[in-house]
Parts: sequence; structure tokens; C-alpha cells
Amino acid sequence: MSQHAYVDGQYMPLADAMVPIEDRGLQFADSIYEVVAVLNGQLLDWPAHLVRLRRNLAALFIPPAVSEAALGMIARRLVCKARFTEGLVYMQISRGSARRDHGFPANIQPRLMMTARRFDFHQRAAQQRTGISVLSVPDQRWGRVDIKTTGLLANVLAKQDARVAGAFEAWFVAEDGTVREGSSTNGWIVQGGRLLTPPLSAHILPGIARAALLRLARAAGLEVEEKAFSLEQAYAADEALLTSTTAPLLPIVRIDGRAIGSGQPGPVAARLATLVADDIYQQTGWRSTGRSRA
Ligand code: PDD
Repeated sequence: MSQHAYVDGQYMPLADAMVPIEDRGLQFADSIYEVVAVLNGQLLDWPAHLVRLRRNLAALFIPPAVSEAALGMIARRLVCKARFTEGLVYMQISRGSARRDHGFPANIQPRLMMTARRFDFHQRAAQQRTGISVLSVPDQRWGRVDIKTTGLLANVLAKQDARVAGAFEAWFVAEDGTVREGSSTNGWIVQGGRLLTPPLSAHILPGIARAALLRLARAAGLEVEEKAFSLEQAYAADEALLTSTTAPLLPIVRIDGRAIGSGQPGPVAARLATLVADDIYQQTGWRSTGRSRA
């Protein structure tokens, strides 16, 4: 059993987990979520995920379903039950279920649902050697994507466009030509030795992996700026990369079919990948073997 779920106070095999049809997460995407990496059985960057979860709940006026200490206990227990050492914990808190009505129902109880399942982080190491491709798409999302809600339809469609085009990720581009972020990742470029990532705003998710890379790169003495860049600048960049919980750092070697820099993963991405790998090792004791287990 490498996957397990928790819903309404009960632990169960993932295949048996269900939510009522009137859950507002299902009917209105009236819910927030977090995805946390589990490496060597440890939850990576857990305190940072809790801070973001708390902020997202407050933004939607959803009271916490359980205490933060209880969240941690449930997540760890799920990981034990699912019996994997490398995987993902998915946590979602919806406003709860009630008769369908757009306004907030009175006396509604938030619903916590969680899943834990195995995930092959080793395959990422292989992708770090080859690099991945990105497709640019117009940003058609709502105006508060800094809140991590389950309203992800535009992201789903963008990722599918990328897949159809043979790319790993889609980059959302604003009407003024600036790059915002990926459909499930944050974006970066390297330009003249400087590392750039778009500044935090209502138009990007404050990624946990983004914050980690900013901290690590600065501590290592790299020149880093949180500054907007255009798609044209990205095409002409020396290197490009992306970060997220499920892809801690991946070099981008093509955008819209154009080679970035040499068309191979570059030296800055390689250095940053080492910093990220060392940070993960320090937090969890996990290192990639570099070989996919799939
Ligand atoms: N995605 N931007 C978007 C739109 C995201 O959905 C994500 C995360 C990120 C990176 O955030 P973080 O570093 O905290 O993972 C950026 C998660 C992994 C998902 O939806 O599966």
C-alpha cells in the first residue's frame, strides 16, 4: 500500500476515500491546498508550508479545520500508513459541505482531506541532466493566484497544451509580455551572471521552492534579483530554470522550440541544483541516486 488518505477524521486506503457531493471544494473550488515533499520519510520545508496554508485560509475566511500540530501529526501518520520514504503529501481544506448557495453557509465546518502517495524524486535528477522544455501560453487565470486555491482549470489546460506540444511545462505570459510563472512551478532566468525571478504579486504563487532557492543562492553569494522579465528576455537568456515542490530545480533548455543559451543545462543551474540537493540532504538526510525507480 503506497497510498493512503485521511478525510473527515478517518484514515483509509486512498481508493476508499470519498467526499460528499455538496462539498464546496468540488462545487465551487472553494478550498485551498498544499503539496509537501516527503524525502527519507521527512516532510520537507514543513514550517513554510504551514505559514502559506494559514495565509491562504485567512484570505478565503476559512477557519482552520484542525490545529497546525494536528495537521503535522496526521501528515506523518499518513506517511507511515502509506509506507513509503519518498512521496508527496497533499492537503486540502474546503469550506465544507452545505446546500448549494454561492454565499458562505452559516455554521459550516471546514473539511480537511489529505493523501499521501509515493513519488519518484529520483527521476528529477535524470531530468536535471537533460533539461526540459517550456511552452508559453497567455495567462488566463483569475487575479489572485497568490492564494493557493484548487481553482486550477487554467493551469490544467495550460499543462495539457504543453504536453501536446511535447513540453514539460507551460509558462503563463501577461498581456504586456512579462513571464509570470509556470502552470505548477515558478520560473527563473540567468542573464549576464544574474539570477532573475518575477517579484511576488497577486499574479504568482509564492512558491516554497522559490523562497528556498532565493535564500540558498543569496547565501552562496550569487547575484539574485526578484525582477520581472519578458518572454523575449527569456528567449535570449543564458539559462532558464524552474522550481517547485515536485521539481525542486530543473534546467529549461528550450522555450517555444527555441534553444536557451547553449541548448544544454548550464553551469548556474548545475551549481544551484547542488545547493538545493545539499539543503534537502541537511533537512531530511535524502540524496538522489540519480536513477529513476519507475
Ligand atoms: N504546484 N506556481 C504554481 C501555479 C504552482 O501550482 C506551484 C506548486 C508553484 C511552486 O510552488 P511550491 O514551490 O510551493 O511547490 C508555483 C504544486 C506542486 C501542485 O499544484 O502540484
